[in-house]
Amino acid sequence: MKTVECDILIKNIGQLLTIPSKNGPVINTNRESLGIIENAYVSIEDGKIKDIGRGSKEIAAKKIIDAEDCIALPGFIDPHTHLIFSGTREKEFSMRIRGKDYLTIMQEGGGIKSTVKATRLASKEELFSVSAKRLDTALSWGTTTCEVKSGYGLSTADEIKMLEVASLLQRNHTVSIAPTFLGAHEVPEEFNGNKRGYVDLIIHEMIPEISKRKLARFCDVFCEKEVFNRKETEKILNEGLKHGFHAKIHTDEFYNIGGTELAEKVNAVSCDHLICTNDKGLSSMKKAGSIAVLLPGTNLFLMKKEIPPVDKMRELTVPIAIGSDFNPGSSPIIAMPVIMSLSCLLYGLTPEEAIVGATINAAYAIKEEGVIGSLEEGKLADIVIIDSKNYEEIPYWFAQNRIVYVIKGGRVVAGKKKFQTTED
Ligand code: NIG
Ligand code: FE
Repeated sequence: MKTVECDILIKNIGQLLTIPSKNGPVINTNRESLGIIENAYVSIEDGKIKDIGRGSKEIAAKKIIDAEDCIALPGFIDPHTHLIFSGTREKEFSMRIRGKDYLTIMQEGGGIKSTVKATRLASKEELFSVSAKRLDTALSWGTTTCEVKSGYGLSTADEIKMLEVASLLQRNHTVSIAPTFLGAHEVPEEFNGNKRGYVDLIIHEMIPEISKRKLARFCDVFCEKEVFNRKETEKILNEGLKHGFHAKIHTDEFYNIGGTELAEKVNAVSCDHLICTNDKGLSSMKKAGSIAVLLPGTNLFLMKKEIPPVDKMRELTVPIAIGSDFNPGSSPIIAMPVIMSLSCLLYGLTPEEAIVGATINAAYAIKEEGVIGSLEEGKLADIVIIDSKNYEEIPYWFAQNRIVYVIKGGRVVAGKKKFQTTED
């Protein structure tokens, strides 16, 4: 009787993208960055990658997955979502199509505020149920880890409610969750004309309470004209830092009000959107080691022609990740392969940059680079197998789900195929 050497063996992988991460986030991305092994195998034990190699090594395994010459790469990491919310905003979609813009709708009481109303009315159970279904969809498209923001509660109790839903999802859903506190997403109606009062509430009540309950790892602010200005953003993020949160900033989406220039001051893990970022902001990000999280789904849905200064990011070697920004207003897209296509088509990212952006650089954007984002010995076995021969097909087959297996922590959890089992 042969001894079983691993739990799962994935064999006959046509192109294995390992995307090595040893030297920090990937910059100057090219084909080399993908760490391709042709005709490869991966063995998995205790949910982790045990061995990776070329050829068809004979390893006795409890389960064998025949990849039939397909591509295998790290599970996708979505580093920016507003996954948890109640209600829909298709009326605003129609308004925007007819010419009204996002910020005007927001100022007239729609936008984020309308989702806040619906989310406040929803119970934890309802929010859990809708969000878990959304995560099922994300998983079927290869997302194995997802950052999730609060920000539709905007009162201490409702922000906590949202983050408790995030924690329930973390415990009960296959997809791993990275929770972010975004109390500074908008000023709620009860604080109309008293933004200072709301900032005080965030600083003196929300941040300490959420930190005490260990409900979030990151603190984020929507730093934008008519929302939170640079000073308020800095104050909130500094308080977050004091309470153990890492800083993230929604910034330069509509107007450049200097949000990105805060990166250095608050040691921002990531700055997100960056449509109208300037050199000063990018230099600050570079110094802080921030990841640029680009969100092309939002460009598409807001029909914005302006795009982030990707060439400048490359020149200054600011690492780029991509995210869905999944939310009911500006980006109802949750499928990372669709976001990868859009990052190429709308922003001019290369297929290699899109793949790196949805894996290892996204892992850096949520400070999980030691565990996920690349396929290396000892890392979590979060792997997607895609029915394609060449990695360039991933962004090319626009909006077509060609995923045959999604493997999370060494278990097949989604995909179209059943796996063979060989018991020795
Ligand atoms: O990242 N810009 C701010 N927040 C979200 C949109 C949220 C919403 O419209 O509900 C974003 O695009
Ligand atoms: Fe967002």
